[in-house]
Amino acid sequence: MARYEIIGGTQLFGSVTISGAKNAAVAILPAALLVDGVCRIENVPDISDVRILLSILEGMGVSVQRPETGVVILDSSHLSCTQPKEELVKKLRASYYLMGALLGRFHQAHVALPGGCNFAVRPIDQHIKGFRALGAKVVETDEYVKLRPGENGLKGNRISLDMASVGATVNIMIAATLLPGQTIIENAAKEPHIVDLANFLNTMGARISGAGTDTIKIHGVEQLKGGTYVIIPDQIEAGTYMAATAATGGDVLIKNVIPKHMECITSKLEEMGAEIINYDDAIRVRVKERLNHTTVKTHPYPGFPTDMQAQICVCMSLASGVSRLTESVYETRFFGYCTELESMGADIQINGKTAIVTGTDRLYGATVSAKDLRAGAALIIAGLAATGTTWVKNANYVERGYEQLIEKLSGLGAQIRRIED
Ligand code: EPU
Repeated sequence: MARYEIIGGTQLFGSVTISGAKNAAVAILPAALLVDGVCRIENVPDISDVRILLSILEGMGVSVQRPETGVVILDSSHLSCTQPKEELVKKLRASYYLMGALLGRFHQAHVALPGGCNFAVRPIDQHIKGFRALGAKVVETDEYVKLRPGENGLKGNRISLDMASVGATVNIMIAATLLPGQTIIENAAKEPHIVDLANFLNTMGARISGAGTDTIKIHGVEQLKGGTYVIIPDQIEAGTYMAATAATGGDVLIKNVIPKHMECITSKLEEMGAEIINYDDAIRVRVKERLNHTTVKTHPYPGFPTDMQAQICVCMSLASGVSRLTESVYETRFFGYCTELESMGADIQINGKTAIVTGTDRLYGATVSAKDLRAGAALIIAGLAATGTTWVKNANYVERGYEQLIEKLSGLGAQIRRIED
């Protein structure tokens, strides 16, 4: 186990470059199993979720090369395994995309139930509903999901999701790409990584339209060929650096971002008093005075992302006045960090889905524990803004999703180091 030690009170200044999107990478890498040829994928973040996923693929017989930073070359043409290693699958959430990929390519799969951040009950009934609609016979136990073709075989179908689930949209899109006929996903998720996955698959020869809207159409094709694809920048990593700049009253140029993806975060920080300048592929955040209180409700994209809930809560904790923060995707997400923030001096009352955050003049260093990836990021931001020294335990959670965190924050003037316990 490792922890971060942060000596707080330093404003962040300078520039930082955002890495490739975690949640796009963890969908695109399994989707590459559909490709009968070599895929060169660029801007792949070097984070532990990606490393585990690549080990799973290698263990299945995929040739994996990392010739230079950010580049992964995958060749799954000789793949035949339909049962990835259980102990690795259980280490991350996105391993459930192997179900869709194996069903699409081999018409069968045996995949252990995924692990990953445990901030809420995270059912996969919509994924299963999608596989069944595509004609799969599904055996589901507490340990694994087994997929086979049903009596009438596998083919495209119309699927209306009960909620706009990112995971179910990705899994159905991947599974349907090589199946005969047309699949229509209604009430599809619209997150930037959904569009990125569709663009990746289309680059390899798929016929997918409508990604980014709530109706996605997939015309099944017989084969995907190899090619090169560059993953989009990470919306949440960029948002995390924006929040860190705001919380510390700094001035940072955040490079390699798509400003359009950041709009809901940008507008909230502007409401709080941050000055934000958008460039073609960068955003500058400057905060000169104490932040103002605001109201935020999380929503699927293009709404304010649940994955930024904890980071904005730190900004609210330091703002003047009383802010309201309502979670509408994962109700229990507050419990991952609010108690820890309170131990640093924050004043947060949780009332069902809403946290009432009364701003305080300052937070104080403490020993706190990251319980999931974004909670950990938020506690680091709190530590950067706090008076005194903060130790954030469970660095491994944070390393799931933030590439070169220490290097990037140190480059902005933060005093942070990683201590191996
Ligand atoms: N849901 C169901 N049934 C399902 C699927 C989802 O009830 O079959 C519910 C969930 O419980 C939740 C809502 O629908 O209340 C949305 O879940 P979704 O499926 O969209 O989330 P996910 O695919 O499990 C992805 C990201 C999460 C991010 C959410 C929401 C990946 C690998 N994970 O999770 O990212 O919070 O979408 O945007 O893409 C993170 O990066 O820190 C992270 C947790």
